[in-house]
Amino acid sequence: MPSESNSSRAQFNAHAGKYAASEVHRHGPSLPVLLEYAAPMREDRALDVATGTGNTAHALAPFVGEVVGLDLADLMLDHARQRAREDGQTNARFVVGSAENLPFPDAAFTLVTSRHAPHHFLHLDRFLAEAHRVLEGGGRLVIADQISPTSAAQVWMDEYQTLRDPSHHAQRTVEAWQDLTAAAGFVWTRHTLVPYRLEFTWWTAQSGCTPTTVERLRAHADRLSAAERQAAGLEYDAGGRLIAHHEQMMVVRLDRP
Ligand SMILES: C[S@@+](CC[C@H](N)C(=O)[O-])C[C@H]1O[C@@H](n2cnc3c(N)ncnc32)[C@H](O)[C@@H]1O
Repeated sequence: MPSESNSSRAQFNAHAGKYAASEVHRHGPSLPVLLEYAAPMREDRALDVATGTGNTAHALAPFVGEVVGLDLADLMLDHARQRAREDGQTNARFVVGSAENLPFPDAAFTLVTSRHAPHHFLHLDRFLAEAHRVLEGGGRLVIADQISPTSAAQVWMDEYQTLRDPSHHAQRTVEAWQDLTAAAGFVWTRHTLVPYRLEFTWWTAQSGCTPTTVERLRAHADRLSAAERQAAGLEYDAGGRLIAHHEQMMVVRLDRP
């Protein structure tokens, strides 16, 4: 496994139990949109990249012939396997691997998904090239990932997100996604933005922030102007204390010609 991947693996192995229980991840509103865009069918061989505790793979399993969930973090996958067993899903299996170097032959799948994860990938271009390679002609790639409203906002957001979770890498704009996916040979079929409101206390506990990191995040947010806070989606209570932030989750369907 390349050493550059260690940060995500360590981060998510350390917090796997919390991700398995997280309602935001199990039932968050990007999931039904992703399913609608993916239009899974019995003939599909599906791959869910960076499956984590398997939420997207579990949601696909009842509709497809088979689904493979892949992730760097083996302890996240242990939860995915356990839930598949509990739900009696015999067509779902889970393997350790990297999004940027998929351990599958060419044209092995008809559907590839990746939800709430590509902002961790250090080389999104390599993941897109790999997704293109493992998809059959006519296959679909459906992604759900958090986006930044502008390139300027992205600079601040990447600092904020990385402070909270060092395995964060880049929260791109829709335009950057369009450029990268076109360069990889995909056709951008349709996308939508799904709003999320994330409570600051939950969000910082989820990734294991220490009290010092929580204070650094608050200080980082408090340095912004009112207009920048609005652009960053920050929410304060009447006493001026940061209580949440709002994120847009882009769900996009890409077709592989
Ligand atoms: C927020 S969690 C996954 C959420 C999950 N897809 C869902 O729908 O609930 C992000 C996952 O991305 C994985 N990850 C990060 N970078 C990766 C990479 N380069 N290759 C494979 N998995 C990666 C992490 O190990 C982690 O399990």
